[in-house]
Amino acid sequence: MENPIAFQGSEKARRIQAMFAGIAPTYDQLNHWLSLNIDKRWRRAAVREVQDVLTRPGARALDVCCGTADLSLELGRLAPTVGVDFCQPMLLRGMEKVRQSGRPVHLLAGDALALPFADASFDVATVAFGIRNVVDLDGALSELYRVLKPGGKVAILEFSHPVVPGLKSLFGFYFTQILPRIGNAVSRSGYAYSYLPASVQNFPDQATLAARMTQAGFQQVKWRNLSGGIAALHTGGKPALAGQ
Ligand SMILES: C[S@@+](CC[C@H](N)C(=O)[O-])C[C@H]1O[C@@H](n2cnc3c(N)ncnc32)[C@H](O)[C@@H]1O
Repeated sequence: MENPIAFQGSEKARRIQAMFAGIAPTYDQLNHWLSLNIDKRWRRAAVREVQDVLTRPGARALDVCCGTADLSLELGRLAPTVGVDFCQPMLLRGMEKVRQSGRPVHLLAGDALALPFADASFDVATVAFGIRNVVDLDGALSELYRVLKPGGKVAILEFSHPVVPGLKSLFGFYFTQILPRIGNAVSRSGYAYSYLPASVQNFPDQATLAARMTQAGFQQVKWRNLSGGIAALHTGGKPALAGQ
């Protein structure tokens, strides 16, 4: 499907945008099948990490790289949420789900590297399985930091590097040999589900991502491994203003 969102990003970013446009029709179904529905538990874990801030009176959340809005909808149970993505076919599927849910979630087109919001606009910012795809990790982290209010919290859920011996090789086999075959066949994509394991291998490990978040300005950065490190959930805070 064409992606008519005007976008001035790099060639690599345009290829990623086109790749997600191609797999949008089967994205949700494949996510849940290929992860045996564990992805839903991981997203709920992300919401629990930011629940303290999200339930403050008047709090608002931003879900960057929201795709088909699964995490935006979970956040929307607790607070008004804005989801942003640069791929129209993913957003259109998300919009239909939002409409059916009746939750206070609003989706719009935007680039994670140039978020269309003023500084200090949100109490919570999240990214699920998205930041690995953004061509400039540090740029994306600094945008998340910019739009967060002082005292706000970020949660980043991403595939990571398994830490449990045995699981590493077992999961490695599934992720590089089985998942791409099923994913590429069902989505009829020549490469999207081969790109997935490659992009995870090239993505910083847990400690390195935490260090990059700290460099971007986040404080009290920590992470929790999910399912033995198949995914990791990083959180960090934007320092509150004096007297806040
Ligand atoms: C793997 S999907 C994750 C979607 C959703 N967050 C989820 O949990 O299922 C990654 C999403 O990131 C989006 N994306 C990648 N780079 C982006 C960028 N620079 N700006 C906005 N969205 C981006 C893609 O369009 C895609 O929808």
